[in-house]
Amino acid sequence: MTRRVIASAPGKVNLVLWSGRPDARGYHPLYSIFETLRMRETVTITASTSAHSESRSLSEVSIHTVVDVADPGTNTRLATEINSLDPHRNLAWRAVDAVRTSVKENGGYAPGAAIEIHKTIPVAGGMAGGSADAAAALVAANEFFQAGLDAESIHSLARSLGADVPTCVSGGLNIGFGYGDHVTRLDTPATPTHHWVMVLAHDGLSTPAVFREFDRRGDGRSSLPEAVTQLHSQIAGADAEELATLLDNDLEGVARSMRSDLDATFDAIDRTDAVGAVLSGSGPTIAVLARDEDHARALSHRLESEPSVAATIVTAGPAQAARLEDG
Ligand code: C5P
Repeated sequence: MTRRVIASAPGKVNLVLWSGRPDARGYHPLYSIFETLRMRETVTITASTSAHSESRSLSEVSIHTVVDVADPGTNTRLATEINSLDPHRNLAWRAVDAVRTSVKENGGYAPGAAIEIHKTIPVAGGMAGGSADAAAALVAANEFFQAGLDAESIHSLARSLGADVPTCVSGGLNIGFGYGDHVTRLDTPATPTHHWVMVLAHDGLSTPAVFREFDRRGDGRSSLPEAVTQLHSQIAGADAEELATLLDNDLEGVARSMRSDLDATFDAIDRTDAVGAVLSGSGPTIAVLARDEDHARALSHRLESEPSVAATIVTAGPAQAARLEDG
């Protein structure tokens, strides 16, 4: 049994996010194109010191999070908040628990474990930070417990953990159907790199709250495409200028109506020569598209001084899949 395993997984931006009306469960059918970003969460699993008995309960899986996001003011507060959460509510803990359960169900030995997350993706930012934790945790746990799960089993566990987890497992550029959780890779080796500035707000925005307001306004689409639209088939080969014309997020209007600071930030972006901008997921992070890395740095520098902006992160996509890292 390996005693220490490290894995990482990328965050994402939704290039396109179209939402239908909620179903009986209150969940929304989505049509979404995700670009994974070269901002990675890292999960380390080690054997916990009291882990040598097969009879230990699942609560013997401990979890600790180190927060290292771009906004320096929030790191300590967030780390305290996250570490005081019930582990059962932590997606990475649930991912490890799910792999451990599958090992036990198959008669295998699954000892206790300690999970450490190194978080660089802002929390409640619309960049799937929690989902990236879960994706990395699945890959790490599969190796740590020698679970032998194939790609399909990992994807099915990923779907059960959250709508964005499969895209964080896959990496690349994905189209998502269903709840956004049935993903297919769209990128090819010829897909250009896209350069982004992720513009962070001072406070997070709750995804369920944004969807509730979306429903109250009756904004849901009556139907969604069931295959990749002709327009969106261009995305895999799109350069920045072409991509800018395709960016579209149904939740942008709702999020802006809930948060006047987002209007201020979009206005500030309009005053720059950014190629395009779109709300990332349910926000409040805004993804600003640049021509190249230097342009991204210049935009980042300019937007950082806006009062409505907490911090910016220069990044690029698409990113590589969730993967094991060298210890
Ligand atoms: O799947 P995940 O746990 O990331 O979703 C967070 C919340 O976002 C859900 O509790 C739900 O309120 C909302 N959601 C939704 N429809 C989706 C995905 C998420 O309503 N397809």
